[in-house]
Amino acid sequence: MQDKPIDKDEILNELEQIHNLDYKYSDGRILGSMCTEAHPFAKEVYCKFLDTNLGDPGLFKGTKIIEDKVIKSIGKLLSLDDAYGNIVTGGTEANLMAVRAARNHARKYKGITNGEIIIPESAHFSFKKAADMLNLKIVEAKLDENYKIDVDALKQVISDKTVAIVAIAGTTELGLIDPIEEISEIAFENNIYFHVDAAFGGFSIPFLKKLGYDLPVFDFSLPGVCSITVDPHKMGLAPIPAGGIIFRKEEYLEVMAVDSPYLTVKTQSTIVGTRLGASAVATYAIMKYFGRQGYCKLADNMMQNTYFFESQLRKIGYEVICKPELNIVAFNHPQMDTDLLASKLEEKNWKVSVAKCPKAIRIVLMNHIKKNHLKELLEDLKEIF
Ligand SMILES: Cc1ncc(COP(=O)(O)O)c(C=O)c1O
Repeated sequence: MQDKPIDKDEILNELEQIHNLDYKYSDGRILGSMCTEAHPFAKEVYCKFLDTNLGDPGLFKGTKIIEDKVIKSIGKLLSLDDAYGNIVTGGTEANLMAVRAARNHARKYKGITNGEIIIPESAHFSFKKAADMLNLKIVEAKLDENYKIDVDALKQVISDKTVAIVAIAGTTELGLIDPIEEISEIAFENNIYFHVDAAFGGFSIPFLKKLGYDLPVFDFSLPGVCSITVDPHKMGLAPIPAGGIIFRKEEYLEVMAVDSPYLTVKTQSTIVGTRLGASAVATYAIMKYFGRQGYCKLADNMMQNTYFFESQLRKIGYEVICKPELNIVAFNHPQMDTDLLASKLEEKNWKVSVAKCPKAIRIVLMNHIKKNHLKELLEDLKEIF
């Protein structure tokens, strides 16, 4: 740090120049991100609550009421009348809390000390971090030919050390929904904690179902489901950082509680201590602002763009990996290696991402990608071949 204060304008000027290196969602060139530009109203609200700290809720009673309200309201969206949980930094922290709750619950009620978690091969890498931090062994359940959990393979790997089963509603790479109803039954019969990672799908599946899209049940209406991750900062258009962890019962928070002596509350169950109230409040505000109708419209638009892009890709000779269930299209060209195709798109200034399983270019059709961007992209894809 320099000795003397620097003038604000000079600092802002420097920051602006560096900020210019960042890609902007509004350019429509970011094709592989599950985040997007937050809605201006959510940003406005966020700024008003920047100093609130939900780590010390006795000092920020109003903000805590808003967090509780937003958790109940996300719970209702997921068919749960009385939800518990928190707005956290994102899907990673939400998944970490779910796995921690499952581990502690199994330790307390079943005496399991060397636990395992069963995750699909398609699971987000956040579960690997969670298992590492919580000293759990990862057991992977194989996928079937449709890239969803193979339920028979899952049954085979359940053991007396299993502390949790995880399934995904909106996989990171392909946007697919696992057979959650069947897995819920298995988990329920075996008395095993079942977590659904709907970080991506949680803010679209309920709305798409309401519109009549044929999508499977994935939420708390299934008795085996104990917790769901659902991220407002992905399809919910809330500002980063906003992840959501929703628990069916308060006891899952209680098994994680540690004493918090110097604070205004006696215990704390979240991973982080000091945490932003702004995220919870901006999520609350944007959910009110859109309402179910607004989110239905958004989700429908993104799906229509997805179907448009998928059909056009097929017309120009590209192979689409699977019929999209949500707003992700993964594809290859039969005559070109995926990495080479990705680098050709990068040369044309598109920011694409490559899926690993199976290897393919993966486009997440978020709200910032409009029809005109897709048309430009299709022109470039045609030119590559
Ligand atoms: C299914 C799923 N779960 C969890 C995460 C992690 O979310 P975050 O990056 O917000 O921590 C992602 C991120 O893309 C995801 O797709």
